[in-house]
Amino acid sequence: MDKKISRKDFFKATTAAAVSLGVEAALDSTGKARAEGEKKVRLGIIGTGKRGCSLLGTLLHMQELEYPAICDINPDNLAQAQAMLRKQGHPEPEGYSRDEEDYKRLVERDDLDAVLIATPWEWHTPMAVSAMKAGKYAAVEVPASITLEQCWELVDTYEQTGVPCMMLENWSFRRDNLAVLNMIRLGLFGEIVHCHCAHSHDCVDHWFFDPEGNMQWGGEYLLKRNADQYPTHSLGPVISWMDIGCGDYYDYLTSTATRSLGINNYFRKKFGPDHPNAKRVYAQGDIVTTVIKTKKGNSIVINYDMQLPRPYDNRWMIQGTEGIYNEQRQAIYLLGRSPEYHEWEPFAPYQEKYEHAWWRAMKDSSGDFGHGGTDYLELQQFLTAVREKRQTPVDVYDSVAMRAIIPLSEASVAKNGTPVKCPDFTRGKWKTKKPSYALES
Ligand SMILES: NC(=O)c1ccc[n+]([C@@H]2O[C@H](COP(=O)([O-])OP(=O)(O)OC[C@H]3O[C@@H](n4cnc5c(N)ncnc54)[C@H](O)[C@@H]3O)[C@@H](O)[C@H]2O)c1
Repeated sequence: MDKKISRKDFFKATTAAAVSLGVEAALDSTGKARAEGEKKVRLGIIGTGKRGCSLLGTLLHMQELEYPAICDINPDNLAQAQAMLRKQGHPEPEGYSRDEEDYKRLVERDDLDAVLIATPWEWHTPMAVSAMKAGKYAAVEVPASITLEQCWELVDTYEQTGVPCMMLENWSFRRDNLAVLNMIRLGLFGEIVHCHCAHSHDCVDHWFFDPEGNMQWGGEYLLKRNADQYPTHSLGPVISWMDIGCGDYYDYLTSTATRSLGINNYFRKKFGPDHPNAKRVYAQGDIVTTVIKTKKGNSIVINYDMQLPRPYDNRWMIQGTEGIYNEQRQAIYLLGRSPEYHEWEPFAPYQEKYEHAWWRAMKDSSGDFGHGGTDYLELQQFLTAVREKRQTPVDVYDSVAMRAIIPLSEASVAKNGTPVKCPDFTRGKWKTKKPSYALES
């Protein structure tokens, strides 16, 4: 390399080259390109179903990764992932599929740095805890823990082992959400007061049930629980927007669930009134509305909305003393900046102006790699933390803050919307911890 080229120019040039080639730019946590030949990350994967294989497809666009072992109790799914790796020129990973506990042998291997978990919900916490106890970074699909006991188990294991655990909440990494985070940190909305978010995703015909009407494992939770069962996609950007865990924390919440009509109606219309699922009683209400009051006195409204026919939506909205952002309208209003009094203006120019460094560095190379590039960025940032042996961008406290809403909303719904006190999983650290997620240097 020409010695006259500065380190900054080198990073700029290598990033541009990687981006133009459409391969992994191998960026570090600040969005800078790395030198070649850096340490490989040795990754184990548990759960190679739909999501596991989708994440693997994204990982295969990245360099400096090895896959010594994968685990799935379904031999076909295991073989599919092995074939994906072989096709890309990787050696065939050792497969673990003896029984439901076989993942324990995988995490004990001494040739793994990290384990990625994409199994059904009840397995997330036991698998992540095993990985952390074996000294491997854990990346766990949403929602990870589904009870308060599991939330504490993850926090306790992290505090005992010092091994990071990150929930893979991809919407924390969305391009628009990170630009909004930059704007909040610059004070453009003034003091933040209120936020709204939702997971509006009709999953009845393809995830809770298959297209033939057979109940999948996710659907079984609808028979047993009445809660916000999927709050992490709603809260992904919100916890950093609202400084939850680093300056503020949940105090209490109330949750209200509607009647459950959507699933029966779907089956009646598609399969006829005599189909068993057209008459079955589901515990889960169609819409759950949760209101969180924070310690600072702010509020967060969360909607669970996964059983009625509708287009996908997250309905993010954040409001402060000097302005408001509305994702659904793709619009913004800022006091003293927006051209017309009390008129929305388009968000797009703000998106450009306040683009997060992560997206500035990699957006052109990653558009096709899962959820518009967010999966790529999320995995890349997780792997960078593993490589650099430091904390993951979303830590265990952030992760449990997103998922604790499941059991807490369930408790409130069961008591007709009675306020439920939220446990402090940080054990008071939220009062002094400074924001660390996605800081731009
Ligand atoms: N972040 C996202 O955008 C997103 C999207 C879809 C799914 N997900 C999450 O991903 C996870 C997996 O969902 P999916 O749709 O891929 O389900 P899936 O049923 O397609 O895959 C789950 C896999 O886990 C395997 N498995 C089950 N128990 C196991 C065990 N004890 N040991 C090893 N393997 C086991 C199954 O055989 C299956 O292959 C869920 O938590 C889901 O909520 C996240």
